[in-house]
Amino acid sequence: MNRNHSDALVFFGATGDLAYKKIFPALQSMIKRGTLNVPVIGVAKAGWNLDQLKARAQDSLQKHGGLNPEAWAKLSSLLRYVDGDYTDSATFAAVRKELGDAKCPAHYLAIPPALFGKVVEQLVQSGSAKNARMIVEKPFGDDLASAQELDRILLSAFPESAIFRIDHYLAKGPVHNMVAFRFSNSVLEPIWCREYVESIQVTMAEDFGIQGRGAFYDSTGAIRDVIQNHIFQLMCNIAMECPARDDSESMRDEKVKVLKAIPPIKPEDLVRGQFKGYLDEKGVAPNSRTETFAALRLYVNSWRWDGVPFYIRAGKYMPVTCTEVMARLKRPPATGHGGPHVPQNYVRFRISPEMTIALAVAVTSDLDDSRQDAVEMIASRRPKPGEMEAYERVLSDAIAGDPTLFARQDYVEEAWRIVDPVLKAETPVYPYDIHTWGPSQVDQQVAPPGGWDCPQPEEQEDFRIVPQTN
Ligand code: BG6
Repeated sequence: MNRNHSDALVFFGATGDLAYKKIFPALQSMIKRGTLNVPVIGVAKAGWNLDQLKARAQDSLQKHGGLNPEAWAKLSSLLRYVDGDYTDSATFAAVRKELGDAKCPAHYLAIPPALFGKVVEQLVQSGSAKNARMIVEKPFGDDLASAQELDRILLSAFPESAIFRIDHYLAKGPVHNMVAFRFSNSVLEPIWCREYVESIQVTMAEDFGIQGRGAFYDSTGAIRDVIQNHIFQLMCNIAMECPARDDSESMRDEKVKVLKAIPPIKPEDLVRGQFKGYLDEKGVAPNSRTETFAALRLYVNSWRWDGVPFYIRAGKYMPVTCTEVMARLKRPPATGHGGPHVPQNYVRFRISPEMTIALAVAVTSDLDDSRQDAVEMIASRRPKPGEMEAYERVLSDAIAGDPTLFARQDYVEEAWRIVDPVLKAETPVYPYDIHTWGPSQVDQQVAPPGGWDCPQPEEQEDFRIVPQTN
């Protein structure tokens, strides 16, 4: 495996939105942390020069997290710029020149996938592909066939071990923590299976709309934008077996096994919605049937999860911004204390805006001792200043050559296989009012037993760290 540190970063799409919002801030953070000390060559077709790119980078830092004068001075000294068309060999000759004697560059394609083929071809022809690493943004294709075609293009010039498919969700600390929590503690694993878990639900709610990304979003929709990638990654963390070793391939193998056990989603197990007003957004087709919300049910047909329904829900303009996983446990038997009236136990993992792990249990009500209330035993923590952001993590790992947090070819293709039929099924799209939990059809068609969990603001804060006594 190609584990050497890249000695240059070339990023295509340097004048774009992603660079402005995420990449420049991530590069500055890497400099502050001491993980970036190689030339950074921005490439775009904007008719700009290096000073204009630097001005844009400065503006980006001021708007997204703040400019650190020392780190900026260093980043500014590392920045280079090549302006030109991605189909023009002169652009790539200029890139090659800027690369100087770099021997293992990382090429980061923050550009639409339709351009990948041209860029790869030109990188090969200009001699910049040798020993190089390719970092590619999501969405990786828009269905199974297009993902396979992108894989064909990339694999024609690079080995799989040199291809880093970004899913920034994987680089979020709380997403990591789900796996660490499951496999570093013996408390959860014995009950984390079909004998004890009644259902699992995953909610990714955002209280905002499409934020000016109409043209992109309208050709994408919620299933392609966040379910096929971000939410499936969360689901794999919930459902996977403990990897036999802690290397990246063992981890990625276990995730792929989860996806392989999931049959394609059936149209009747999906409800799609569109927030009212979406059709007036810039870049959206007047008669668009793109979903801004989707709720669905699927099954993981593995020994551990057979028969346990997984419910997934994601949407724009929901009442809150929050990503949360909730596993409801089966009720205790109907003895003197158990039965249908006892509040159900559940385990809750919150991914954002803060990291929370909560276990809900039934205790005697303080108002009526013949009744029981659900209370949560909760540990919660807000992100701390200086914590590594997801984009810093993915870029640092890609440059260092660690593939653990990147989606492998088989993973991406399995994920598309699961959603492919419903992407093509033309299921109805129901309108919903903004700041609601989507169309009412959800509760009739894909409601978990006991109903959907509607995330509430977390009241308590901070993990209590227990001092080590041995
Ligand atoms: C992106 C999607 O991949 O993830 C966006 O394109 C979504 O639509 C975003 O809002 C959510 O990620 P985060 O890290 O901002 O919660």
